Amino acid sequence: MNSGIAYRCPLPDVQFETAWAAIKIDQGVKDRLLAQSMLALTVRRSVPFDAAPLHGLIVLAGIPGTGKTTLARGLATKVASMLTGQKVTFLQIDPHGLASASLGKSQQQVTTLFTQTIPEAGMGGVAVVLLDEVETLAADRRRMSLEANPVDVHRATDAVLAGLDLLTRTHKNILLIATTNYPQAVDAAFLSRADLIETIPPPNAEARAEIIRDTLDALARQWPKVAGLGRDMALFVTASNGMDGRRLRKAVVGALAGSLATARDPNLVTSQQLLAAIKAATQAGKEIGREAA
Ligand SMILES: Nc1ncnc2c1ncn2[C@@H]1O[C@H](COP(=O)(O)OP(=O)(O)O)[C@@H](O)[C@H]1O
Ligand SMILES: [Mg+2]
Repeated sequence: MNSGIAYRCPLPDVQFETAWAAIKIDQGVKDRLLAQSMLALTVRRSVPFDAAPLHGLIVLAGIPGTGKTTLARGLATKVASMLTGQKVTFLQIDPHGLASASLGKSQQQVTTLFTQTIPEAGMGGVAVVLLDEVETLAADRRRMSLEANPVDVHRATDAVLAGLDLLTRTHKNILLIATTNYPQAVDAAFLSRADLIETIPPPNAEARAEIIRDTLDALARQWPKVAGLGRDMALFVTASNGMDGRRLRKAVVGALAGSLATARDPNLVTSQQLLAAIKAATQAGKEIGREAA
């Protein structure tokens, strides 16, 4: 039977920490996430639920590629570093694995997840649980898709809500971080239980400049002449307006594929090639957006 666990590891984790640092975003967002997480694992433990109904649930919402999954993992390790002396376990749930279970099974699996697997991970310490792409797990019951059996989706979402309520009232040593690319597809009752819903925006001009610089620097460690492209940063920043962080990093690296010569020797890559790669990626993004709309 699919346990629904995609990944599990002890925290803190150095790689998560590095990835968190690599996400360029307003420091206010990172600070809010950290403060809310600490509240969930400290204050929440000493105040009765009915007086301060904190569920220990944080939701990160935003378009794909904006760093939500990376931020969630980074947050987990940052929190663990602050809880010195406590055993902290990270658990990443694979909602697709659960939801694709044969009809009638997902409800039972979700219940097992919330009543056994997650509490067990937190035993003797703290568990930070990532519910990645939670729209699959807590699908809006009013918007059933045609492929899935509506009754089954309904029951699975009910099971998530029931599990969440029980878990968060009885296990105050557990922090849940959910991400979603489609907040409108997540059940409203799930969202209303969040202590904080943080919308993660696509990178602004300053963040895009940092992402481009960071990616160029990484390439320049191997091919030093790539660093020279930084001179035309203003052009790249303007051309990448609206692009998400993942595609922007890909576009910068993708510039090396501008010709066979640069693919063989990245030291030869030019500003024009980088600008063309960014423009092509921006254009492709717009077309996909238009089709999806
Ligand atoms: N704001 C950002 N700053 C730097 N890198 C970013 C940013 N947003 C996305 N990325 C890059 O995109 C990759 C994918 O991010 P991910 O966390 O999977 O996004 P999401 O979960 O929102 O789809 C990250 O590893 C990172 O390299
Ligand atoms: Mg993600």
